Amino acid sequence: MNHQLLANKKGIIFGALDENSLAWKVALKAKAAGATFTLTNAPVALRFGNINELAEQCQTSVIAADATNTDDLEKLFQQSMEELGGQLDFVLHAIGMSPNVRKNKPYTKLNYKFYSQTMDVSAISFHKVLQTAYQLDALNEWASVVALSYIAAQRNFPDYNDMADAKAALESIARSFGYHYGIKKNVRINTISQSPTPTTAGAGVKGFDQFLNYAQKMSPLGNASSEDCANYCLMMFSDYSRMITMQNLFHDGGFSSMGIHPDVL
Ligand SMILES: NC(=O)c1ccc[n+]([C@@H]2O[C@H](COP(=O)([O-])OP(=O)(O)OC[C@H]3O[C@@H](n4cnc5c(N)ncnc54)[C@H](O)[C@@H]3O)[C@@H](O)[C@H]2O)c1
Repeated sequence: MNHQLLANKKGIIFGALDENSLAWKVALKAKAAGATFTLTNAPVALRFGNINELAEQCQTSVIAADATNTDDLEKLFQQSMEELGGQLDFVLHAIGMSPNVRKNKPYTKLNYKFYSQTMDVSAISFHKVLQTAYQLDALNEWASVVALSYIAAQRNFPDYNDMADAKAALESIARSFGYHYGIKKNVRINTISQSPTPTTAGAGVKGFDQFLNYAQKMSPLGNASSEDCANYCLMMFSDYSRMITMQNLFHDGGFSSMGIHPDVL
């Protein structure tokens, strides 16, 4: 798919770690669709991931920023505007991490320091990104900001643990900030609630493979792939979605509307 859908659009893509990352696919497709953008990730991810390979393919630079650190975010937005030549048209927030999930702490025995980190990295970072952009006036009129979410924000998926609370907050931040940025500058803010997808963050959830198969069977169209997710992000960054804001958009092959499926009974 190469429609130059994002010709002349400039942006920032958070969260590409390796070739499985949802953000990685978005970057490759955004490049093919004519966008220019900077890539960013936490300093530690720059050491362990392959983001420089992606930057070469996209002919762009990587700017280190811990998304929980507002000084880093300010520098990121300022440097991105300098490099790209002006205000931005799109931002992808594809960031998630739970130390409780990583360390197998059950929801009934959470470590509260970890819980705060989960919320800060996976949800409040979205507010920090938006507030930094708002204060620096870094986004153009009708810019589009997308964060990636998961249906555990609405329904119970016990092994998703404290990430469920983070995703509920993430989606709420999209609605709350969507109002303020909408009336100020017609900036659109949405979350895309993606099917389970094999990535580093996804595979960290206990029983992920069985769950992936369950979701595949439950969804009339099957699970949405990372390629499909990237296409949807591009559509949300494009002018074809300009009146969509403050929404949580399910991108899950129909999973969220299913009650039972005969194949699963
Ligand atoms: N994979 C799935 O099944 C799935 C489903 C729905 C939603 N999502 C969401 O998609 C987003 C992207 O995840 P992914 O599945 O591509 O996995 P991933 O592991 O490739 O990406 C997660 C990214 O978050 C980055 N990150 C962590 N802490 C950070 C920090 N402090 N500052 C900046 N970046 C930081 C990581 O370095 C990594 O690049 C996440 O929000 C995730 O919850 C994933």
